[in-house]
Amino acid sequence: MRVVQHQAEMIGNTDLLRVRSLSELTGCNIYLKCEFQNPGGSVKDRAALQMVKDAIEREELKPGMTIVEGTAGNTGIGLALVAKAFGMQMLAVMPNDQAKEKERMIELYGGKLMTVDPCPFSNQNHFYHRARKLAEQHKDHWWANQFENTANTKAHYLHTGPEIWQQLEGNLDILVSVAGTGGTIAGNSQYLKEQDESVQVWLVDPDGSGLYQYMKSGEFKSHGGSITEGIGIMRLVDNFRQAKVDKAVNLPDKDIVALSRYVRNKDGIVLGSSSALNVAGALCAALQSGPGNNIVTFACDLGERSASKLYNTSYLQQRGLLDFDKDIKHLIERYQSQAMTDQIVSKF
Ligand SMILES: Cc1ncc(COP(=O)(O)O)c(C=O)c1O
Repeated sequence: MRVVQHQAEMIGNTDLLRVRSLSELTGCNIYLKCEFQNPGGSVKDRAALQMVKDAIEREELKPGMTIVEGTAGNTGIGLALVAKAFGMQMLAVMPNDQAKEKERMIELYGGKLMTVDPCPFSNQNHFYHRARKLAEQHKDHWWANQFENTANTKAHYLHTGPEIWQQLEGNLDILVSVAGTGGTIAGNSQYLKEQDESVQVWLVDPDGSGLYQYMKSGEFKSHGGSITEGIGIMRLVDNFRQAKVDKAVNLPDKDIVALSRYVRNKDGIVLGSSSALNVAGALCAALQSGPGNNIVTFACDLGERSASKLYNTSYLQQRGLLDFDKDIKHLIERYQSQAMTDQIVSKF
């Protein structure tokens, strides 16, 4: 137990939680790195802190200035918290189709919020470009740029990866992660493979994201869409570019719904939607790789950030995600099947 001077010092050093139900089902140890324990409630606190610290060191960012960032929400929350710790303001530019829970949190932390209509990246009104332009127009604004700013990857290389390695005393076989900016998968995969090059890294990608197809064919193509937020990209960014990935798998939203309920009912963990996809990826990796493996994935945030979508019956109904076969035995059969093996992209 520590005494700290501000909340930013509480970022990191999260627990590793063994998911008992899925570990017993598979004969592997499936662990969740509990990133929801960060003070802002998500994995993105780590990137927020590192980006700000590095910018202060370069003398780009000083107390009294405004941090501006385009975000699906969690980075905005993390930056709002870190901004307060360092005497700065925060302005988050968010697409208006993200869960309202996250908008509210940014404002509760004293951050300013600008919501914009969602549009393709090529459109200059995309939240990413809007944030960049605000920083260009105002001398006292600093753009965090989580996609291209590799302090994001560095946060995981310096902290999350070493924490995992120490927590498991080096007994790690497989790391599974989603990617939004790629900071988490890049920093962790780099550090963990430096410790042991046989650690296998799996990327799990939702529908509507182009990363799986990029891994398969070198082209950013996607099909359908997803209820997940903050993950999936349609372009190659500097953080993801640094990821060391061995296998990639694309899993549908139905698996997210089924596994979020299973883990909630059996283990009492209420996962956010990207975390539920991570757990689906970890289950798939366990079943494809066989018993005896130690597998780590991330609980990026908790279900309270996905309450209006993943845990909202009428929303799920509208998306055709309510009435389907949620029997875990059938999910396991599908994950073990040859069709799944064929779908997985291996070694690039
Ligand atoms: C809930 C959630 N999960 C996962 C991620 C992806 O993390 P990364 O940007 O490190 O790839 C994000 C990113 O914003 C997120 O908000």
